[in-house]
Amino acid sequence: MWGVTRLTPDQMDTLSDYFSKQTPMQSASVSVSARGKEIFMNGLPSQGVVQCSACHGVDGKGNGAIPRLAGQHVNYLVKQIKVFKLTDERPRGEAMKQITHDLSDEDITEVAAYIASMGNL
Ligand code: HEC
Repeated sequence: MWGVTRLTPDQMDTLSDYFSKQTPMQSASVSVSARGKEIFMNGLPSQGVVQCSACHGVDGKGNGAIPRLAGQHVNYLVKQIKVFKLTDERPRGEAMKQITHDLSDEDITEVAAYIASMGNL
């Protein structure tokens, strides 16, 4: 995100407004496992991983302050989930930090692939 630190709050608002009105794109096709869907829809109760659908919605469209996930690029999703899990660089993601704490790298990849495959809703 080179250069973003030079934006004023007004410029950030204008950009956010612009992007929030764009039609979501569909990610390139990815191979999806049943486990990725299972984590998204039902979580991993034995590991304390809450289902993603509880906040992001069963269709991944998000809601208010909860961001849309459906159709995002796999690599972006994996990276952000690891940012929540391993760093404090997204302080507003406190809920995500707890949820991702016990997700293995393999499960992060599985759930990210499922999310990327979610349709253009
Ligand atoms: C308790 C509610 C809650 C649950 C459950 C939840 N999330 Fe989130 N998620 C959030 C919030 C709130 C944010 C926005 C955090 C921020 O502003 O940095 C977020 C952000 C994200 C982002 C970053 C999106 C972006 O565009 O950068 C990803 C990826 C994500 N969540 C994936 C998941 C996955 C995968 C699961 C299930 C394992 C999950 N979330 C479960 C509340 C939740």
